[in-house]
Amino acid sequence: MEILNKEKLKEVLERWKEHPSVTGLMEKFSQLQSYTNKNYKSLEAYTKQKIKESKYELVELPYIDVKEDPVRPELDLAFRQSYGRKIYGLKDDVGEISAIMCFAFTNDVPKTVEEMEAMSYDAALQSVHRAGVQGSIAIAYTVWAKKKGGGRAIVNEVYKMVKKSNHLNRLVTLSPLTDMARNFHIKNSAKELQVNEKTQNFEYDITLEDWETALVKAKGFLKVK
Ligand SMILES: CC(C)(COP(=O)(O)OP(=O)(O)OC[C@H]1O[C@@H](n2cnc3c(N)ncnc32)[C@H](O)[C@@H]1OP(=O)(O)O)[C@@H](O)C(=O)NCCC(=O)NCCS
Repeated sequence: MEILNKEKLKEVLERWKEHPSVTGLMEKFSQLQSYTNKNYKSLEAYTKQKIKESKYELVELPYIDVKEDPVRPELDLAFRQSYGRKIYGLKDDVGEISAIMCFAFTNDVPKTVEEMEAMSYDAALQSVHRAGVQGSIAIAYTVWAKKKGGGRAIVNEVYKMVKKSNHLNRLVTLSPLTDMARNFHIKNSAKELQVNEKTQNFEYDITLEDWETALVKAKGFLKVK
């Protein structure tokens, strides 16, 4: 959406060049807003509207700089892409990657990265005999945001992807034992599955209908049980 008519903007700025007072600036701002397609009461309202309008796209990434991963930088690119493992990025409406999430596909819930490695290896080998269908559980073992809000948005898109999939029936995390990971997943309406020695697993219930997910989120937001 083009919010400002550039020619009008240039004209207005030219006219007000000599009046740098704050009140003057505020007046200029509201006048400038009258040249936008819509009037937004506040920057917050404008931002919310932009988020609502934005179109996200989940894309599989062939390359990432693993050092950027704040959770598991020790896992190299080869690990993240072998035995069916996948790296997904969330492309936002300006074509930039706003968050990254890495997955392994298993038939059980792993408590450690080593278990996940072995389980996804087994699932990949079994899939050779089952026409490429491998691992019914998507394990999200890292997620990080490159732009604020990107983390939440990628979880939403991944949730939809798993729900649509024919062979995946669970979406589970293998998260670090941090408050950030806990707050983040609980706030996004995941349930705690178990807390392990070095990790914790959360589960996004993909059997819920869309309205039920919305209800869980609304209850969390309003802090009601
Ligand atoms: C967690 C993360 C992906 C969230 O991304 P986001 O959705 O774009 O982010 P926001 O900054 O809007 O945070 C969303 C929620 O995450 C949680 N969170 C974020 N930063 C936090 C922190 N420093 N401490 C505790 N909780 C935190 C909060 O619940 C927050 O909600 P709030 O802002 O309403 O309090 C992002 O902070 C990140 O990249 N963190 C580093 C990597 C990481 O720890 N990943 C999570 C575990 S796998």
